[in-house]
Amino acid sequence: MKHKIKYVCSNCGYESLKWLGKCPSCDNWNTFTEEFVEQKKSSHARKAPEANITKLNSLVHQEEERIKTNIEEFDRVLGGGLMPGSVVLVGGDPGIGKSTLVMQAAAQINKSVLYVTGEESVNQINLRAKRLKVSSENILAMTETDLDIILNAIENEKPDVVIIDSIQTTYKPDLENTPGTITQIRECTSELMQTAKKKHCAVIIIGHVTKEGMIAGPKVLEHIVDTVLQFEGERSYSYRILRAQKNRFGSTNEIGIFEMHEDGLHEVKNPSEIFLSEREKEITGSVVTSSIEGTRPILLEVQALVTPSAYGNPQRVATGFDYRRLSILLAVLEKRAGLRLSSQNVFLNIAGGIRIDEPAVDLAVCCAIASSFSDRYAHKDTVAVGEIGLGGEVRSVGNIDKRIQEAAKLGFKKIIVPNGNNSIKIKNAIEVIHAHNVTDAIELVLRK
Ligand SMILES: Nc1ncnc2c1ncn2[C@@H]1O[C@H](COP(=O)(O)OP(=O)(O)O)[C@@H](O)[C@H]1O
Ligand SMILES: [Mg+2]
Repeated sequence: MKHKIKYVCSNCGYESLKWLGKCPSCDNWNTFTEEFVEQKKSSHARKAPEANITKLNSLVHQEEERIKTNIEEFDRVLGGGLMPGSVVLVGGDPGIGKSTLVMQAAAQINKSVLYVTGEESVNQINLRAKRLKVSSENILAMTETDLDIILNAIENEKPDVVIIDSIQTTYKPDLENTPGTITQIRECTSELMQTAKKKHCAVIIIGHVTKEGMIAGPKVLEHIVDTVLQFEGERSYSYRILRAQKNRFGSTNEIGIFEMHEDGLHEVKNPSEIFLSEREKEITGSVVTSSIEGTRPILLEVQALVTPSAYGNPQRVATGFDYRRLSILLAVLEKRAGLRLSSQNVFLNIAGGIRIDEPAVDLAVCCAIASSFSDRYAHKDTVAVGEIGLGGEVRSVGNIDKRIQEAAKLGFKKIIVPNGNNSIKIKNAIEVIHAHNVTDAIELVLRK
């Protein structure tokens, strides 16, 4: 039989009859791979069956009981636990700790768990469980890549939770495409989704996904599954962050913080202390800010290094912070605060390998840059919080009380906050100083 060929973008799933260098849908280069076209059964002359329609208010309201992983950081990111009948995709770079995380969760779930692995032998799984010192009493394990056999096992064992490690190795034998191709991944995921709904079990799917999303096509899966969690971290740091990118059953701005140890992932319950633990107190270019991740405040150290540029084009490098945002803040500092930064290299780093997308850290970024540029130390017991507008004004931020409380809890004496945040309840724990614009704020944060 001769197959028809199509080309599929491995990032977003865009299909084309010709090979294309650049995907017209997601603008990535070299993402097209060759796949077979699935022959569709002819569907003409089909008489559509009657639709099943329910009057919504006739339903008895009942809160669905979630399955707790009993790992607090994991449960919080999920929105309170696994929802029965839902599919959760856990993506992340290879080796970041996905199998470790789900194994620890599997062992702590008080329900039956079917752990399907296509990457390791059952023996290796058992060795991991031993190394992580978890009990594997409630875990049934199998090494399998054939989706039909997996679905059969779910049918027979009726587990409450199914773990698929990983979706890249799982395949449907009646598709012509090889495992790991977009068609396979998409088909397998939608079948698992249907099974989850039908059998009312929670399914956790592991996907190897690089930050650029090139391997698995996470965009393709994002639409299918209920929840997408990204497990990330710098390989050289032991911190790992679990972040919700999409969640039909919870908030998407929660994060869970873990630390990787020999015996597995440890939950980090006091992130501020850890992120500030290596802070050098006497150094220019270092300012502490209070950021909100999800519902939690975290104190972070913003570090800047400003050096004269020897060549025409100064370098700007941001780690853990948006590069474009840095460019905007540099322009504001130049124009509104009179700092001549256009001939300076600026390197910015959020210490600890964490990534921050919150505008409330703007002020600390500006102060850190000003500190390094002018070689003035920042007051070591001062925290700076505020969004910076294009006019150099310090704009108000949300959750100000939580931020102040966290700073006070960790022993800081002073916090610089936006002028607009004027209904502050926390008064006595710490000195709260309001700042109008970035120039004033810099003078408050930096020593003379
Ligand atoms: N024998 C071991 N001793 C200590 N740490 C280990 C051991 N095996 C794996 N690890 C840690 O676990 C990480 C791999 O975790 P794993 O859950 O297998 O990743 P993933 O499933 O995301 O590919 C490694 O990067 C390493 O830090
Ligand atoms: Mg793994």
